[in-house]
Amino acid sequence: MKAIDVVQLILKERFGAKPLHDEATAFAPANIALCKYWGKRDEALNLPVTSSLSISLNNQGATTNICLQKHRDEVTLNGELQSLDTVFSQRLLRFLDLFREGCDLHFKVDAQSDMPVGAGLASSACGFAALVLALNQLFGWGLCERELSILARLGSGSASRSLWDGFVKWHAGNRSDGMDSFAEHLPYEWPSLCVGLCVLFKQQKSISSREAMKRTVQTSPFYAAWKPTADQDLLCLEQAIQSQDFELLGSTAESNALAMHALILSSRPPILYSQCETVTAMHTVWHLRAQGLPVYFTQDAGANLKLLFLKDASNAIRQAFPEVEMIEPFG
Ligand code: PMV
Repeated sequence: MKAIDVVQLILKERFGAKPLHDEATAFAPANIALCKYWGKRDEALNLPVTSSLSISLNNQGATTNICLQKHRDEVTLNGELQSLDTVFSQRLLRFLDLFREGCDLHFKVDAQSDMPVGAGLASSACGFAALVLALNQLFGWGLCERELSILARLGSGSASRSLWDGFVKWHAGNRSDGMDSFAEHLPYEWPSLCVGLCVLFKQQKSISSREAMKRTVQTSPFYAAWKPTADQDLLCLEQAIQSQDFELLGSTAESNALAMHALILSSRPPILYSQCETVTAMHTVWHLRAQGLPVYFTQDAGANLKLLFLKDASNAIRQAFPEVEMIEPFG
């Protein structure tokens, strides 16, 4: 099945209809996976091998404005006009093609992202989620959250989780059309929970998560161990969130990220997202923990770390990581 078939299934008679408005704007928060999505069972539809669970970064995310244009598409990112042949523009335009099949429609997309693009900092997740929300307004589709999550997934898997604040779970599903693979908000608050963004590298990652995921699934001798590991981690995280057990949350998220990076490293040829600074930061976290400070990290497809800690550890964290950007997901 192709992405466009899923779009038709969701939009039904609205597929191919003209937009209701000339312009729309939407915001979506970035999200950080505590139990990662790593590996697809369907490349075209971004259907995952495992379910995953994330926390959204409150007001850190992407705001996307989309306008109808007369003759040609235009893309700006953080106020800068982008050439239409960059990876960023092409990904965005191919996604928009799904919604203008058979219509002579051109768009101006103005994306403002709080997260550096392509640095493993969830920029594509919030970017595609904001774009889907803006398209829903522009066309006046009136889609429900589940349908919006499925459409966002077609842009970037992790975007399916960027439609809500707080904790979000993405159900892997098992249907071949992916209609059971969507995210939903988990109704738990944890006001003292903090996430610290340690931006160690803003440069674009050397290999996209799409390529790295594919190579891991195809070549890592350990990939078979990933599904049972992630399933177990997901159960532990849900239990940790329900009982507000920070040690369980932090230790599970950290181990899950390290297991994902171990798989990635065991791909052939190997992929290593970490830089020397990443490893130094990991040792600092472990050192702080050995001294009794409850802090953990997680890492996505890039060299940067995200710290997990409770609010009363903020001062100690700031001393050890002066550059850290602190986010209170429930603040
Ligand atoms: O959605 P993608 O293709 O950018 O992949 C995201 C992969 C990770 O960020 C590493 C994990 C996750 O679940 O967000």
